[in-house]
Amino acid sequence: MRSISPLVALVRSARGWRSDVGLRETARRRNSNRCRGLWLGLLGSLLALWLAPFTSKAADENKLEVFSWWTSGGEAAALEALFSAFKTQNPGVDIVNAAVAGGGGSAARPVLQTRLAGHNPPDTWQTHPGLELMDQYVIPGYCEPVTDLYRTNGWDNAFPKNLVVSMMTKDRKIYAVLAGVHRGNVLWYNTKLLEANGIKISGRLTFDEFFAACDKLKAAGIPALGVGDSGIWTSAELFENTLLGVVGPQGWSKLFSGAMQWDDPQVKQAIKLFAKMLDYVNPDHSALSWDQAIKALMEGKVAFSSMGDWADGEFVAAHKKEGEDFGWVNHPGTDGSFMVIADGFTLAKNAPHKEAALAWLKTIGSKEAQEAFSPLKGSIPARTDVDRSKFDGYHQWSMDSFAKDQLVASCVHGEAAPAAFQQVLNDVVTAFMVDKNVDNFANTLVQAARESESPK
Ligand code: GAL
Repeated sequence: MRSISPLVALVRSARGWRSDVGLRETARRRNSNRCRGLWLGLLGSLLALWLAPFTSKAADENKLEVFSWWTSGGEAAALEALFSAFKTQNPGVDIVNAAVAGGGGSAARPVLQTRLAGHNPPDTWQTHPGLELMDQYVIPGYCEPVTDLYRTNGWDNAFPKNLVVSMMTKDRKIYAVLAGVHRGNVLWYNTKLLEANGIKISGRLTFDEFFAACDKLKAAGIPALGVGDSGIWTSAELFENTLLGVVGPQGWSKLFSGAMQWDDPQVKQAIKLFAKMLDYVNPDHSALSWDQAIKALMEGKVAFSSMGDWADGEFVAAHKKEGEDFGWVNHPGTDGSFMVIADGFTLAKNAPHKEAALAWLKTIGSKEAQEAFSPLKGSIPARTDVDRSKFDGYHQWSMDSFAKDQLVASCVHGEAAPAAFQQVLNDVVTAFMVDKNVDNFANTLVQAARESESPK
């Protein structure tokens, strides 16, 4: 990093000056009267006091504060891979890992908002592109553009234009660098458990086939569908995937552009299918987090889980083998669609350590870091020029899907709809767990869509 050497030099010279002042002061004290010594001592203390902000600031400048919600086994390992890539290129910069636990960022985002509103930003933070980035950070003026990084590093052709231009650019300025791209509509399964119950999955799964498998498992006393909705977003994601499975990518864009209403018969059909799925869910779902639900799948306590492919990061962290221990298929009905849940990082306006933050963004956008991060995270690299041979079967599958399938933006992860609508969806899913009222579900979303600027 360009500024590291000058920063280290500044810290050294400041420390040297202070100790030099101290030495001279001691020598004089020995040779002069007590009063003069006291005055000098006082002067020394005043000098030290005056110097303190400069020296601590200098020391502080060798830091980088990175804010995210990556704390599960797979997430933390992948984040560490980014840290280690950064440290290799920027030795001497201490990373402050400001991660706030809680899948999907539901606990982290409010903490971040408080810090941003209080003019105490981390240098860089995790964000989803689309409305989350724009509405919550760019428009309120919390971010600096990073367009120059794209220009100077030749990234214009390395990152997918459809994501960069449509979800991260405002007034021709780009506001984030993507670390990876997750696929939301994946149905994971425990291979051995399905085999033991005579359930075969060959490439795709219709809703009927899925429910037939669930019935078989239920008859054997096994909760078919593993959910960990101590954070309600996971059940909202189960609904989101089911909705995509019914309305398809065209319906999806109609819904989020206002051309289809949220009480459309197709939406109600998706709500009914979602209600049916809840009959097969593990009884302890509300006590578990998303990664604990994936752990339950690994342990054979549940058979399936509909979850974004950060779940793959958990399988990798637990050394589970593709095909042998676990498998995956598109969430029913979603063949041909890729639900994009991308992870980017920003540059804070008035970042306390701007040079380090720029160096961080340069690192995460590099080929090396992208190749190190995604195999552990479950995402595919955002860059399309990586060495595919460094990735396992799941990643190859997901890369192929990204290249050929219809890309749709996630509502549950803040890309497709404003935060207020995202919150109403979470609330209505919570209520639905109890009342199973399809009309109430649909009408609440109609109202929420009307009240928010977009979707209309
Ligand atoms: C998503 C995020 C992923 C993963 C997941 C679970 O919002 O994009 O990177 O961290 O939450 O925490």
